[in-house]
Amino acid sequence: CGIVGYVGLQSANPILMEGLRRLEYRGYDSAGIAWQSDGEIHLLRAPGKLHNLQARLPNTVSHLGIGHTRWATHGKPEERNAHPHCDNQHQVAVVQNGIIENYRPLREELIAQGCVFRSDTDTEVIPHLLSQYLQNNYALLEAMRLTVVRLEGAFAIAAIATAAPDEIVIARQQAPLVVGLGQGELFCASDTTALINHTQAFLSLENGELARLTPLGMELYSFAGERVRRFPERLTWSPVLVEKGGFKHYMLKEIHDQPGVLRQGLESHLLNAQIALGPVQELYPQVEQMQIVACGTSWHASLVGQYILQQVAQVPTTVHYASEFRYAPPPYRPHTLTIGVTQSGETADTLAALSLEASRQLTGTPWLLGITNRPESSLGRLVPYVIDTRAGIEIGVAATKTFIAQVTAFYLLAFDLAYQRQIITQEKLELYLANLQKIPNQLEWILETQTPAIEQLAYQFQEVQHVIYLGRGINFPIALEGALKLKEISYIHAEGYPAGEMKHGPIALLDKGVPVIAIATPGTVYDKVLSNVQEARAREAHLIGVGSAANSEIPDLFHVNLTVPEVPELLSPLVTVIPLQLLAYYIAAHRGLDVDQPRNLAKSVTVE
Ligand code: G6P
Repeated sequence: CGIVGYVGLQSANPILMEGLRRLEYRGYDSAGIAWQSDGEIHLLRAPGKLHNLQARLPNTVSHLGIGHTRWATHGKPEERNAHPHCDNQHQVAVVQNGIIENYRPLREELIAQGCVFRSDTDTEVIPHLLSQYLQNNYALLEAMRLTVVRLEGAFAIAAIATAAPDEIVIARQQAPLVVGLGQGELFCASDTTALINHTQAFLSLENGELARLTPLGMELYSFAGERVRRFPERLTWSPVLVEKGGFKHYMLKEIHDQPGVLRQGLESHLLNAQIALGPVQELYPQVEQMQIVACGTSWHASLVGQYILQQVAQVPTTVHYASEFRYAPPPYRPHTLTIGVTQSGETADTLAALSLEASRQLTGTPWLLGITNRPESSLGRLVPYVIDTRAGIEIGVAATKTFIAQVTAFYLLAFDLAYQRQIITQEKLELYLANLQKIPNQLEWILETQTPAIEQLAYQFQEVQHVIYLGRGINFPIALEGALKLKEISYIHAEGYPAGEMKHGPIALLDKGVPVIAIATPGTVYDKVLSNVQEARAREAHLIGVGSAANSEIPDLFHVNLTVPEVPELLSPLVTVIPLQLLAYYIAAHRGLDVDQPRNLAKSVTVE
């Protein structure tokens, strides 16, 4: 979900709507805003995308308001469950991102005291609680403080009340919330992107902090009621980064951004032909093993990372779904570097897994490394070591450029470790880096030459129900990623499998014409993959190969070939993923689907 708030001299509603538009990637099941004018709170909510809300927006002027775009957790995406939520007297309006875990007992208590609930959400307990404290003559800020100490779970809250006509009160506990500082105006939002057109001065709330925002400034407190003082920070990236730049969808733009992202990632981490990853390098001599926690596409990047770290740097490495790790971590082992990989830097499960690991390391700076394109995020504040992948913010919900940037960070980490530990020579390191530096041009070649064939294939795929993706070795995670991309944006069922496992189950799905996409690039497992493809051919599957042009066997074996340049096997995921991203994109686009905001998904999942 996304939160935005404004108080100041300008008219609030257009600013709230623009903020919500920029936050829509965080959820788009419903949206709403509340504003104050003439001593009253006005509420406007609509199910579905933001344009439904926009269509109902009256032309009133207000200088104070809050807004919300929702990704449903508790309660269906209907208007009555959309935020903001009010108390029964309509004196308070609240937006929330997160989950109030103890809302049931609170709700029962409030109902027993006469409150009438109008939604199925966990959030609605908040305005009722605030309202009770306000009726007992507490100021809004103190009412919020007394409320939040009764809440369990992870949340970010913004509230307005008729009792305080020029105030927004906000609170944060394990869910992101930033304040934007302007002249005679203050903003709040779940993410800096919502406000980037208005200010570049931001202050992030920490867990257990609340604040009062008025046109005259902000006051920051701890949940214990102590005043907190901190300087804001200046953001350096520009709004241009988050525009579509002539492409039909953000996802297509971000796919095309990848050569540049890779160049930028390499440039900023190579200094005088040496890999420069910052202070984490000081840990190398002591690291005995690594464990990686991540979700979704970042989990796939981590699987590629695991392969490289184990095969090149010889460091035993495990990869965990963050949501599983946090409740069933492997036994604690000292000298373990824990790596959290996340494009948003806000995924609740990943942050919780890292916090858990930090709590198990009793002394010194925790050995936690974050790999992210958002170093200013909650992740950046949680972990002492960060590799900024330099991919910038990603808007399309289906991750593309952030994936390639994360994988690149793993290459650099593994090559650097291997070199520092004398597992590879200087010459070998230079060769790896030289090959890596060729990849951006090779990606450009794929984007320029393969798009027509992929579009054509996408056209044929429009009615397809299932697709199987096969890969082995370092390209097994790419099979998973190809399948995930297709599922996410085109709603076609897809399975990614290690090619050698197909015969142990998924082969039963094969039938005449079922598409099987196999990643078959030269290397250790190349012949094995081709044998596995033969098994699918014998079942009359429709075979699509992602392979290199230099390959002579492929034209006979596959019905369709998607060509990638020949690169060393170790680097092949960087090229093989591109046709799969494009294929998923063009299938979804041909089907007329909402590529950038697929149903039920959100870009930043700040709940468990
Ligand atoms: C959401 C997004 C995915 C993303 C996953 C992990 O589900 O829709 O695209 O891969 O979260 O996000 P993270 O920000 O931690 O990489």
